[in-house]
Amino acid sequence: MEKVQNDGLAKSIGISNFGVQDMETLMVSAQIKPTVNQILLHPYVYRRQKPILDYAAKNGIIIEAYSALIPITTAPGGPLDKPLNEIAAKFGVTPEQILMAWTKAKGAVVVTTSSKKARLEGYIAAGDITLSPEDIAAIDDAGALGEEK
Ligand SMILES: NC(=O)c1ccc[n+]([C@@H]2O[C@H](COP(=O)([O-])OP(=O)(O)OC[C@H]3O[C@@H](n4cnc5c(N)ncnc54)[C@H](OP(=O)(O)O)[C@@H]3O)[C@@H](O)[C@H]2O)c1
Repeated sequence: MEKVQNDGLAKSIGISNFGVQDMETLMVSAQIKPTVNQILLHPYVYRRQKPILDYAAKNGIIIEAYSALIPITTAPGGPLDKPLNEIAAKFGVTPEQILMAWTKAKGAVVVTTSSKKARLEGYIAAGDITLSPEDIAAIDDAGALGEEK
């Protein structure tokens, strides 16, 4: 991948699903620091993924969050439903947009997808939502309650 970048075929290179130990090992030999580490990130896995976010922040690696919408798409009915719906109603937006705003508040960039234009437009608009520390704490607490083991 470093050769790909050195040959001018990519502006940046990154990694995916690297844990702290994987990143430490890579940093010993890397000639080019990875720009991003794309990982699973949503409130139900936040506590176990946090060391990866901390290591990445210290080392200038951007965290890209995939499956940020899992609490809504594949795991609805959990403790997050209530705070997500309440905060979404307060802002007049969708719960998906609140999950994206929460991800941004954790310093990560969301990588998502949709087949629907309205959802994609909503995802762009989510960049303008700034959650309060109380909103973030409510989501963190509910995420910890429904934590994936
Ligand atoms: N690096 C890795 O190991 C890894 C692993 C997984 C995924 N990824 C990547 O991450 C990106 C995001 O993919 P993801 O699957 O993780 O997506 P995600 O961002 O968690 O969710 C996107 C999906 O959620 C659906 N959705 C949104 N709102 C919904 C709602 N209210 N009810 C039901 N469904 C709803 C969308 O369907 P509609 O089309 O109907 O809007 C879309 O299919 C992709 O580019 C994928 O390739 C990477």
